[in-house]
Parts: sequence; structure tokens; C-alpha cells
Amino acid sequence: MSMASQPRQTWAFRKLRVLTQWLVGLRIPNLGSAYLSYHPDSYTMVQGHPEFRALLRGFTRFNRSNNGGDMQRLWTFMLNVKQILAENVPGDFAELGVWRGNTAGVLAHYAQAAGRKVALFDTFEGFDQRDMQGVDASRSAEFSDTSERMVRQVIGAAACVCEFVQGRFPDSLRPEHHRRYALVSLDCDLHEPMRAGLEFFYEHLSVGGLLLVHDYGNPAWPGVKLAADEFCARMGEHLIVVGDKSGSALIRKKRSPEPGTAPRG
Ligand SMILES: C[S@@+](CC[C@H](N)C(=O)[O-])C[C@H]1O[C@@H](n2cnc3c(N)ncnc32)[C@H](O)[C@@H]1O
Repeated sequence: MSMASQPRQTWAFRKLRVLTQWLVGLRIPNLGSAYLSYHPDSYTMVQGHPEFRALLRGFTRFNRSNNGGDMQRLWTFMLNVKQILAENVPGDFAELGVWRGNTAGVLAHYAQAAGRKVALFDTFEGFDQRDMQGVDASRSAEFSDTSERMVRQVIGAAACVCEFVQGRFPDSLRPEHHRRYALVSLDCDLHEPMRAGLEFFYEHLSVGGLLLVHDYGNPAWPGVKLAADEFCARMGEHLIVVGDKSGSALIRKKRSPEPGTAPRG
């Protein structure tokens, strides 16, 4: 953003803004890694994305400490979902790893407006013991502090386009899930479900479709990077990394896989 495009601000206004940001910052426990950033010009200059405030409320509900300072992730989500819809990439949306529904709410909002469905895959009871193997062998149970009811509360009215698929992925897959997807959020932290999620959803992704892989650059979850790198090497795919808090990565499917590079299993 050029400074010339900024509205004129008085000294008092600038002081007030700095004070407000400082006070808000006090509510972010990880303040040492926080910084101030602009919203996209398409929001501030032409008042695009009027849904942003409502989506931000859902994105941070019951999850202020992690998501409250991660505007890059929310914008990456919003702008890419809108791009996929603008390009008319066919298929539904899905998420593997829902927890309290903070990102599922973003998917559901746009899906409802576009007449698409969202399949939400989670145990809704946290990690499954069987996935705590290999690089994740020393993990303990996490994310059990949720429920379908809580997720519905976070998503709100758009929950009517969501299907809640409870159980350990990929065991939870049913025949009706073998359909086309336009966009899938993969946020399951562990190597084994991430491996299975990449394989299943890439195969069922439309050409032009998008996989959002959360935590690719997050040293706390090494199994995610491992699974994504293994997958890309095998499929000849490439990642685009995002500068959000936990290092999301994007895979956009450009073509149907060559024969012989099809996913395993
Ligand atoms: C980090 S949380 C998801 C957060 C959510 N996407 C968000 O941004 O608000 C990870 C979720 O993955 C789920 N998960 C991990 N392994 C799974 C598996 N094999 N099957 C289903 N869900 C799984 C956990 O239950 C947990 O709710």
C-alpha cells in the first residue's frame, strides 16, 4: 500500500490507534511474535469483503489466543476460497481437522452463499491413539475439548450446509464422500492423517482445486511437513508457502495425475 493512498490522520488519531493496538496486544499471549500489518487493499481501499468482521468473530471464537493474532491465515483462507469460487472450480468443500470450527466457519459461509456443501471430518474427541506413531509417537491426546454442538455454535446459520463426519479419518470415509471437491482444508497436525488426507482429497480434487495444508512450516508438528514433502515428491506437485503464524502451504491442482503417479491405497 502506498502511503499516498492512506487517509490523512491526525496526531491524536495515530496515538489512539497505537494505544488500542497495544491494549489488544496485551490479550495475545504470544506477543513477542506479533507485529502490526495492513489489511489487504481490496478491503481498506474499496470496502471489499464486507463479511470480514463476521468471519473474524467466528475465526477467533473460543480460540482467541491462537487465531486472534493470525490475520494472514484468515485472509489467505478468505481470498483463496473466493478465488476458487470466482473461477467456478467445481465441487464441494471439506475440512479434515475441525476442532472448534474456526476455519470450518469460513468455509461454510462461502459454501452456503455458493450453494455448495462442506464435509467436516474430525473425531471431535481429539487425536486418535493409533495416529500417535512414528514421528508423532511421543504425542499425548489433544483437542478433545470440543463437540459438534460447540462447532455448530461457532459456525452459526451456515452449519446447515455442513455434514459432520465423526470418526478417525480415513476410516470415517463413506461411499458418498468419494465425490468432487473444489477446496479442502487439511489441519490435522499428525503425519498419519495428513498423509491419508493428502492422498484422498488430491485424488478427488477438481483440476484448479486447492488444498490448504496448515502447519507445514510449524516446527511443533513435524509430521505435517514430512507428509506434505513425501506427497509432493511422489506426485510431482509443488507447494506455495504462506507467511502466516503456523506456516500454511497451498497446493493447487493443475492437471490430473499422470498414470503411475496415482496415490497409494
Ligand atoms: C488443530 S485442530 C483443527 C483446528 C481447526 N482447523 C481450526 O483452525 O480451527 C486438529 C484437529 O484434527 C483432528 N484430527 C487429528 N487426527 C485426526 C484423524 N485421524 N481423524 C479425524 N480427525 C483428526 C483433531 O481431533 C483436532 O480436532
